[in-house]
Amino acid sequence: MLSGSVKISGSKNTALPLMAAGLLADDPVTITNIPSLRDIKTFARVMSVTGAEVIHDPSSHSVTVNAGGLNRTEAPYELVKRMRASFYMLGALLGREGKARVSLPGGCAWGPRPVGLHLDGMKAFGAQIELDEGYVIATAPGGRLPGGKFKMEPSSVGATVNLLLAAVLARGSSRIENAAVEPDVVVFSEMLQNMGAQISGIGTSTLEIQGVDSLAAISFENCADRIELGTFMIAVAIAGTPGQEIVLTHAKPDHLGSSFLDKFRATGTKVEIDGNNVAVTAPEELEPVNVVTDIYPGFPTDLQAQWTVLLACTSGNGKVKETIYPDRFKHIPELRRMGINAIVVGDEVVVEGGGKVQGAQVMSTDLRASVSLVLAGLVATGTTYVQRVYHLDRGYEDLEGKLIRLGADVTRERYDEWADPE
Ligand code: UD1
Repeated sequence: MLSGSVKISGSKNTALPLMAAGLLADDPVTITNIPSLRDIKTFARVMSVTGAEVIHDPSSHSVTVNAGGLNRTEAPYELVKRMRASFYMLGALLGREGKARVSLPGGCAWGPRPVGLHLDGMKAFGAQIELDEGYVIATAPGGRLPGGKFKMEPSSVGATVNLLLAAVLARGSSRIENAAVEPDVVVFSEMLQNMGAQISGIGTSTLEIQGVDSLAAISFENCADRIELGTFMIAVAIAGTPGQEIVLTHAKPDHLGSSFLDKFRATGTKVEIDGNNVAVTAPEELEPVNVVTDIYPGFPTDLQAQWTVLLACTSGNGKVKETIYPDRFKHIPELRRMGINAIVVGDEVVVEGGGKVQGAQVMSTDLRASVSLVLAGLVATGTTYVQRVYHLDRGYEDLEGKLIRLGADVTRERYDEWADPE
């Protein structure tokens, strides 16, 4: 049973656009509360290819970007293929230099993830876009985008970030309709505004951007990771001692969105919010609660795999419906190997609660899927071996350290996947 408290780290998905924003100023920009994660290191490397100096200091949880020496407008395939968010280089380089050559990211573990909206939006803002041997070549006529109007359908976090990066230094004004309102986009827009960008409508689905000639170097604090917070809340609900509270500190609970908080409380788990502290108390028995993923403030798709494990620990049956990425169920066959009776029916998972969860050897397929296997391991009888945990290292800072401090029995082992069985 878990007990104690856990500090929530800085947000990965917000840190990446904040780092990209650093490329838009000529002088050093510092971002604090940066989590120490593989995706941050990957993006720092992608950014460095341009000649910008990117100093990531994990000990102070900061990144400093000095783009004064930027002299190459390219993001190569070898790095972009490791992390899709590297595609933010397209907007950053197009905005700053008026040209970019950025590798197309390709698919991901749970299916195709298009970037058509990013490209259509850039075109609407006046960019010429060509595809050449797997690369997108984007050019702004005369070296600076004229700006324009674009309505995105569906609303996309990544496309909104990329279009903002491209538009804030444009010659004219731009408008994004049906823009994403996820906290990642809001905090990123606030950083751009602090740098001197002219953006109105922040936090709404219509953003108006008046291009400016230059942006100032600033220091900016990243926000806490809402997905890590939600993941630990679920960990406490399923593996905490009933009646005993666990406090998650340095959190930003309003970034979770109303749906997650409402659904979470409906399971019978007690949540008390006091500023940046979230006290969570597991109930004697968890109630099954159905969820449907949606854009913010709907239930986050990045928490549905974890919710499936919660449903398996309830007293009844429940469902998870995925509307953002209908194929995002790679964790289900692995959870079934642990005795969880979950089946995929179309874009839904139906989960039977009340069964025994058994330890097993299971395989991580992607970031959120892998943490769902760890959560299942917390409540399983026997030992669970989660393989390919490099997926976890992309997005959860010191996960095993945090779980160990809560009293879980977790160790990290090196293993050779291809070794002959003894
Ligand atoms: C971001 C998050 C990811 C999260 C997702 C949804 C980062 C680094 N990643 O991903 O963790 O799961 O938001 O909250 O922040 N779409 C198109 N065309 C496009 C782009 C997107 O059709 O050009 C669709 C997608 O297929 C999906 C929907 O838009 O159905 C939302 O995706 P999007 O918000 O773009 O996700 P990401 O920014 O890639």
